[in-house]
Parts: sequence; structure tokens; C-alpha cells
Amino acid sequence: MSSPAFSRMLDAIDRGAFPRTRKWAWRGLYNMLSRFWRDDDWRFMNYGFVPDGAPFPLKPEDEEERAFIGLYQQAVEGLPVAGARVLEVGSGRGGGSRYLARYYAPASVVGLDYSPETVRLARRLNADAPALSFETGDAERLPFPDGSFDIVINIESSHCYANVPAFTAEVARVLAPGGWFTFADMRGRGMIAELDRQLAAPGLELAEGRDLSKGVVAALNMADARKRARIGKAFLMQRFITEFAGAKGSMLYKGLAGGEVSYVARRYRKVA
Ligand SMILES: C[S@@+](CC[C@H](N)C(=O)[O-])C[C@H]1O[C@@H](n2cnc3c(N)ncnc32)[C@H](O)[C@@H]1O
Repeated sequence: MSSPAFSRMLDAIDRGAFPRTRKWAWRGLYNMLSRFWRDDDWRFMNYGFVPDGAPFPLKPEDEEERAFIGLYQQAVEGLPVAGARVLEVGSGRGGGSRYLARYYAPASVVGLDYSPETVRLARRLNADAPALSFETGDAERLPFPDGSFDIVINIESSHCYANVPAFTAEVARVLAPGGWFTFADMRGRGMIAELDRQLAAPGLELAEGRDLSKGVVAALNMADARKRARIGKAFLMQRFITEFAGAKGSMLYKGLAGGEVSYVARRYRKVA
């Protein structure tokens, strides 16, 4: 089932090739998805995470999204979210920001995304959540003043950026002293050391690192039937979308299951 276009894309991400072109292409892809695929029940665009152990608490109406919420739950578990000013960079359709706003009583949550169509959709899909807003903007040039957030969260978005160090320097700038940066994304196994170098901005101190790959594969298994039903409705590019979605048997699924691709989480503290 592997799609040659998808395979070339993964390869280019790993090599860091054509950063500006890739960044532009990702924005086009997300704009297109949000323009033509506007289902009200599609609020997440991540591969999900199922933690070991007892399931975390969720309201019955959110159970269907458990796998995708899992990446957000692990990202903020134990962090002081209540009363915090939270920024999500790469918020997509807004399901993760909505989860934070509804479950953790933050002072505010701002979701920022580079794709204007996706921001418009996120506003529509999440209009009912408290203290939540969405803005269009670039991770590499955050449109916020210095020290204006207590927590910055970034889930499965950094692989789209042209310049990850520019992004992390911006995170360090907009975080208040003592604030938290919580990150999750995937790379080829051989690129994780380079990713860690890119994330280590001056002013950010590494507090915790984990490999989430096993729980991500469990989530891909859990969500497979639902994804396939959605993909079945697509008129075009079904092979590409199957790869993009990480469906069972896709290159990405095999890479994660076989250890050639690693999905990692990191937490950094802004030093005072
Ligand atoms: C795989 S989706 C993940 C969305 C969301 N975090 C989730 O888990 O559902 C990646 C998102 O990152 C956004 N993105 C890509 N490049 C960006 C950039 N330079 N600045 C901000 N957002 C960006 C995309 O538009 C897309 O919505």
C-alpha cells in the first residue's frame, strides 16, 4: 500500500531537505484538508497515544477520542495547568486545546496554527469551550510578547517546520520564568539526537524525556477502523491519505512498530 509521494516526503523530513518548500507544502496540505474535509466529529490530527496502566479519566462523550487525547494528557500530566496561560503551537482542528480548556481550568488557552483554513475550522468546531481562542501564525515567529505564557504545548507539529531552533528560541522568549514547554513528535530513529540539539534553546532546561512509540502504535491500532471508514469517503489520493493517517500496514505504522521511527516526548522548564 505504500505511497511513493509519502515515502519521498518522510525521507525529505529526515534529511532536513528543502525546508522552506516543505513548510509551504505542509500549509497547503492542511489548508486543503480543512477546506474539503470539515466533519464536525474530526477534531484531532495526531497519531494518538495509549499509556500503560489504568486509563485516565474522561467524560463519556470524549471516549471516542481517547487515543488522540492521550498525547495531550501525557503532555500535561502533573503540570500546574489550573490558572495557567496556555499556548498550543500547531493546534490543528483544536481538539487538544479544547481538552485542556475543558478539563484543567486554565486561565486561558490560545491555539496557534500556520494554516488559516484550519484556524477557521478550529474556531467553528470549538466555539463552545471556555477561555479558548485560535489565531493564525507561524511557530518560528510567535506573535506574542515576551513572557506571556506559563505553558507552551506542541504536539506532532514540529516535523512541518523549516527551522526548529527558531521555534524553540521563540518558545523560550514567550514563556514566563519557571514556565513549561511540553513537546511530542516523531523522527527517524537516527535523527533523535539532532532533534534534541534543536530543542535545546538557551533558557530552557530539560526536565524529562520519554519514548512514546509503543503507546503510539497501540493508539494506531485502536483508531484504525474509524480512520479507514473516514479514508473510504475520500475521492482522491486514498493511498497518500492512508499513509498520512498511519493506518495499519502503512510505512509509518511499520516504521513505528519496527523501531525505525521514534515518537518522543520532552519537557523543558524556562529558567528564571
Ligand atoms: C499533525 S497536525 C497536529 C495538530 C494537533 N496538534 C493535533 O494533535 O491534532 C500538525 C499541525 O501543525 C500545523 N503547523 C505546521 N507548520 C506550522 C507552523 N510553522 N506554525 C504553526 N503551525 C504549524 C499544521 O497546520 C497542522 O495543523
